[in-house]
Amino acid sequence: MNINNNNLCWLLLPYFIFLLLSLPPSSSSFCNHLDSSALLLFKNSLNTYHFPSKTESWKNGTDCCEWDGVTCDNISGHVIGLDLSWSNLQGQLHPNSTIFSLRHLQQLNLAQNYFFGSSMCSEFGDLVNLMHLNLSYSGITGHIPSTISHLSKLLSLDLRGYDLIVSDPNYPRMRVDPYTWNKLIQNATNLRELYLDQVDMSSIGESSLSLLTNLSSSLISLSLSATELHGNFPTDILCLPNLPQLLLYENEKLRGELPKSNWTAPLSYLALAYTAFSGNIPDSIGHLKSLKSLALQSCNFEGLIPSSLFNLTQLSDLDLSFNKLVGPIPSKINKLSKLQFLYLTNNKLNATIPNSIFELPNLSGLSLASTDLSGHLDFHLFSKIKYLGILDLSDNSLLSINFDSTVDYILPNLQSLNLSSCNINSFPKFLAPLQNLLQLDLSHNNIRGSIPQWFQEKLLHSWNYTTTLIDLSFNKLQGDLPIPPNGIRYFLVSNNELTGNIPSAMCNASNLQILNLAHNNLTGQIPQCLGTFPYLSALDLQMNNLYGNIPWNFSKGNAFETIKLNGNQLDGPLPRSLAHCTNLEVLDLADNNIEDTFPHWLESLQELQVLSLRSNKFHGVITCFGAKHPFPRLRIFDVSNNNFSGSLPASYIKNFQGMVSVNDNQTGLKYMGNQNFYKDSLVVVMKGQYMELERILTIFTTIDLSNNMFEGELPKVIGELHSLKGLNLSHNAITGTIPRSFGNLRNLEWLDLSWNQLKGEIPLALINLNFLAVLNLSQNQFEGIIPKGRQFNTFGNDSYGGNSMLCGFPLSKSCNKDEDWPPHSTFHHEESGFGWKAVAVGYACGLLFGMLLGYNVFMTGKPQWLARLVEGVLN
Ligand SMILES: *[C@@H]1O[C@H](CO)[C@@H](O)[C@H](O)[C@H]1NC(C)=O
Ligand SMILES: *[C@@H]1O[C@H](CO)[C@@H](O)[C@H](O)[C@H]1NC(C)=O
Ligand SMILES: *[C@@H]1O[C@H](CO)[C@@H](O)[C@H](O)[C@H]1NC(C)=O
Ligand SMILES: *[C@@H]1O[C@H](CO)[C@@H](O)[C@H](O)[C@H]1NC(C)=O
Ligand SMILES: *[C@@H]1O[C@H](CO)[C@@H](O)[C@H](O)[C@H]1NC(C)=O
Ligand SMILES: *[C@@H]1O[C@H](CO)[C@@H](O)[C@H](O)[C@H]1NC(C)=O
Ligand SMILES: *[C@@H]1O[C@H](CO)[C@@H](O)[C@H](O)[C@H]1NC(C)=O
Ligand SMILES: *[C@@H]1O[C@H](CO)[C@@H](O)[C@H](O)[C@H]1NC(C)=O
Ligand SMILES: *[C@@H]1O[C@H](CO)[C@@H](O)[C@H](O)[C@H]1NC(C)=O
Ligand SMILES: *[C@@H]1O[C@H](CO)[C@@H](O)[C@H](O)[C@H]1NC(C)=O
Repeated sequence: MNINNNNLCWLLLPYFIFLLLSLPPSSSSFCNHLDSSALLLFKNSLNTYHFPSKTESWKNGTDCCEWDGVTCDNISGHVIGLDLSWSNLQGQLHPNSTIFSLRHLQQLNLAQNYFFGSSMCSEFGDLVNLMHLNLSYSGITGHIPSTISHLSKLLSLDLRGYDLIVSDPNYPRMRVDPYTWNKLIQNATNLRELYLDQVDMSSIGESSLSLLTNLSSSLISLSLSATELHGNFPTDILCLPNLPQLLLYENEKLRGELPKSNWTAPLSYLALAYTAFSGNIPDSIGHLKSLKSLALQSCNFEGLIPSSLFNLTQLSDLDLSFNKLVGPIPSKINKLSKLQFLYLTNNKLNATIPNSIFELPNLSGLSLASTDLSGHLDFHLFSKIKYLGILDLSDNSLLSINFDSTVDYILPNLQSLNLSSCNINSFPKFLAPLQNLLQLDLSHNNIRGSIPQWFQEKLLHSWNYTTTLIDLSFNKLQGDLPIPPNGIRYFLVSNNELTGNIPSAMCNASNLQILNLAHNNLTGQIPQCLGTFPYLSALDLQMNNLYGNIPWNFSKGNAFETIKLNGNQLDGPLPRSLAHCTNLEVLDLADNNIEDTFPHWLESLQELQVLSLRSNKFHGVITCFGAKHPFPRLRIFDVSNNNFSGSLPASYIKNFQGMVSVNDNQTGLKYMGNQNFYKDSLVVVMKGQYMELERILTIFTTIDLSNNMFEGELPKVIGELHSLKGLNLSHNAITGTIPRSFGNLRNLEWLDLSWNQLKGEIPLALINLNFLAVLNLSQNQFEGIIPKGRQFNTFGNDSYGGNSMLCGFPLSKSCNKDEDWPPHSTFHHEESGFGWKAVAVGYACGLLFGMLLGYNVFMTGKPQWLARLVEGVLN
């Protein structure tokens, strides 16, 4: 049969008539007019942060069904879908928002906007037809309302928040309570996708999580990373029969184990990284035939890597780093032909590197850092892996790597190479043909002699803009300092034997964030330009032979956090522009020839924690300049070995807020410096010896005013510095008595008041200093009885020498009234709880060790092993 167009029209006529009749009366708009004005009012209640925005096309008088992001029902004209993701919308989403009148909505997507300050209001529960709700990265925070459980038709729910929030516990995030969670999971029985990353789920327990097994037939994606889940994670969820994606990473307190049998789930993406999952990686993992990505790094897994893992031929990302896995790398590893990333960092894997690893054609990232792998490794074998971009073999002291002397191979795509601590003794020649090197770490090796010409050429003329990190520190390099590439951000060549000047060509590297030339034999002046680099946060030139002035032109708004110029021959006054370094945390100018008065103009630096002016030619009186809270965060104040005079700087001491509050929460123990490539270190005098602290604990608080010409009495306010660990006022001309308030320095570990003109009795209150390990009161004019008990039982004669009027233990001179010692000063075990053990440890193991152990004892009660050890040592 042959039907022409006319015939077709006649056939369809009844249908056209039906369509016309069902249209709304207004011919200009198909859209439901109530929905249309609701959308316009919604638009008008918001700002557009910047353009483009989907709402630009929303105009009164046009058909809203044609607007960007709007979907209507074909028949009724009701708005059923609203996708305003990435629309640059800004403002508050109030409960009276007209968006909540769009009761026919099946899809609502407000992701990636700027609704900061808005909370998730209960009106969302009115949109009972919703099947898809996405409020991720929208800035909406606060309690998830219980009404969300009215959304029984939900297929997907995405409430993910920003990653940043983890680092700032005060930043508002979304929060779900068990009541709401239980109702939601019980009512939304068709839920397929649930994304709650960064939502606070800390109140959701194991039984509530188990409800997810009710969704076993529907759930295909579950993502609960960084939600503060803790306790046991129900193993059943790892076995859900239709779930390909399960992401639980960054829940440090979430425990769990992998199913040991019957693990036949269709998982493709499994991420448990940075959780407390533990136990073995069971053989049953070999059943997860669909697995593409397995992220188990930084958990507590132990035992062997099961060989069944290498049956998973779809695997492309495998990260088992930072666990306690032992044994060899299975050599059937080449069965994983799709593998792109293989990270086995920091496991106790031993034996040799299997040759099969070089038969992974698609490998682009490989880390075997910090293992116990041993044997010889022919580096040219890596050239078989054509796409290799990232290679980390660092910190493998048992491995010996052979680099060919004749280079006939290249790794054309290599961008990041870490060969730190690999026993290397020359610059690997295979680097020469590399074009796109981004990061190179050859630190902690035995590379001797001057830097080869070809390497310097590459730095200047080929890696000049791409390279961001060069680390050559801790080698034995000699000759001139290499000139870094222009675009570099991290340049570290410390702890070598480099000589000559810092070349002015360094001034081209103005993107530097960290410059570490410490511990070399560099001479000449510091280039002035370094003070003007806008991103430079750590400048470490300590322990060289630099002379002349400190750069005088530190720019306003600079990024300096650490400036370490100690151990040089710098002179002249301090540049006043140092006060522009408002982010400064560490300023170490010790051991130079700087001649100036005390830089009180630094007292307004809010972040300054460490100020060391030790061993210079500073002079004059130290007094407060006038800031209301001078040096508010200072914790280490060292002005020893100068020519300061006048009375002790009580006006400052009384304001050292950083030393007043005791922060001995062990989980809060932190080191200074948050940069990956730079850790703050510091030389301090403890127990009369110079010691380098490789990292500075944020609880480390000391004052050292020794070897000056301070006079007058000890200010009582020192007693308020409750977190002070060390106080050295020796070699001054201080008079008067020790205030009783010194007994409040409960954290004090060393106290040196020697070589002054102090007199009177040693206050009994000092017996309260439970952590005191070193006491030096020698060469004063103290008199009377030396207190007895606790720490005082551990000090020797040296602590008191040159005080002819002192008597009692440990001095041979006994006191008449020795027997009448008042009872409160004898040692009460029950009273202090941890006292004598810390005493013994501090005494037996040396100061710093004692201090750290002392902390452990304090924090964890009385560990049995330690108690036994100490009792053994003492008996
Ligand atoms: C749209 O335009 C009509 C007619 O001009 C007006 O009555 C109505 O208030 C407008 N609606 C909005 C939301 O601006
Ligand atoms: C509405 O129309 C579109 C095409 O214009 C079609 O793809 C869709 O399936 C229709 N929806 C309904 C519910 O009829
Ligand atoms: C909606 O509520 C907010 C906050 O309560 C208020 O400031 C605003 O005026 C209200 N808007 C309307 C249209 O009522
Ligand atoms: C479950 O959903 C239905 C439909 O929206 C609703 O009427 C009911 O109140 C919900 N139950 C709970 C406990 O929220
Ligand atoms: C594993 O599955 C088999 C067969 O379905 C069953 O008999 C066995 O009890 C299961 N084992 C465990 C530990 O669940
Ligand atoms: C892994 O594959 C081998 C054969 O290649 C097979 O014998 C073994 O049972 C498999 N293991 C698992 C756990 O699937
Ligand atoms: C590797 O480590 C395992 C477990 O610690 C040990 O039993 C084995 O002897 C080690 N092998 C080698 C070659 O060191
Ligand atoms: C920087 O490197 C490019 C090639 O990567 C080269 O063309 C350019 O001349 C180099 N610049 C300098 C200053 O050497
Ligand atoms: C450092 O260089 C000076 C000469 O500039 C030299 O006298 C001194 O011995 C060198 N020091 C070291 C440790 O190499
Ligand atoms: C210790 O610090 C942790 C985390 O900062 C905090 O949760 C805990 O309450 C603190 N404990 C004490 C005793 O202050």
